Amino acid sequence: MDFKTFLQEFKKITDYDFCDYSENSISRRLQKICDETKMTFEEILRRCVTDRPFMGRVVEDITVNTTELFRDPQVWVSLFNTLYKSLPKTTVTFWHIGCSVGLEVYSNLIMLSELNMLDKCRIIGTDINPRVLSVAKKGEYAYSFNKYFEDNFNAVMRGIGSKSKFSDYFDIDEKKDQIKIKPPLLGKPRFICHNLVMGQSPFAYRVDVVFFRNVMIYFNDALQRKIMAMVYSKMYDNSFLILGKREDLPKSLKSKFISNNIFFQKAN
Ligand SMILES: C[S@@+](CC[C@H](N)C(=O)[O-])C[C@H]1O[C@@H](n2cnc3c(N)ncnc32)[C@H](O)[C@@H]1O
Repeated sequence: MDFKTFLQEFKKITDYDFCDYSENSISRRLQKICDETKMTFEEILRRCVTDRPFMGRVVEDITVNTTELFRDPQVWVSLFNTLYKSLPKTTVTFWHIGCSVGLEVYSNLIMLSELNMLDKCRIIGTDINPRVLSVAKKGEYAYSFNKYFEDNFNAVMRGIGSKSKFSDYFDIDEKKDQIKIKPPLLGKPRFICHNLVMGQSPFAYRVDVVFFRNVMIYFNDALQRKIMAMVYSKMYDNSFLILGKREDLPKSLKSKFISNNIFFQKAN
């Protein structure tokens, strides 16, 4: 069985449709799953029917959830000096699409806290993977393994001229080798399980800022167009869209946004 047939069969026996993920990336990931489990596609499918946790692990291995606090620190400094300073004065709604374990969400909340804007913001993080969302809700992460989070944090605080310390935002438990985001940031975002491939948005309202970083890169052109059209329909005029460093808008939407290298703004 080839990987395309595997994906069609996988779609039939689970709720997950990965048929329009970018071929290069998904074929490599599926090969890795076969190598690690020492199973063929047929065997993986048979096991997924009876073993839900195994099926969950396959989904997790297909949907890459790499992330970090203040990923690409220079981008956050530039956003602080541009986008954050031009946010509307009324309630601002943020949508983090493919938020993984929530570190991008908490990076945003730290920026908003630095600007004393926490109270006027509504923050939603969505992801296909329920496990990463439960980590995001807890806001708890390994410490020494992720030491560079603190380096990113310090680089951003230096860049925006803030004296805030890592320990202002995270409780550090050296014994447990763990950090945990502190209230009021903890508990502020709403995390929702949502599969972009379904093409529907997970809420009824419109949004002011969309973080959609390092997710589209895993989809083929047709799926990127379909999902971006849905995202576009949820954005207010003049609202902002932030993509990953290696990502761009589909051609069909380029004329509908104004771009400045750091973010895109929806044209009127
Ligand atoms: C590489 S991470 C990006 C995390 C974060 N945005 C960042 O840039 O650091 C990609 C995330 O997209 C999620 N994802 C993949 N396919 C998805 C889908 N169909 N619907 C919703 N989320 C999806 C994955 O579960 C993963 O957490």
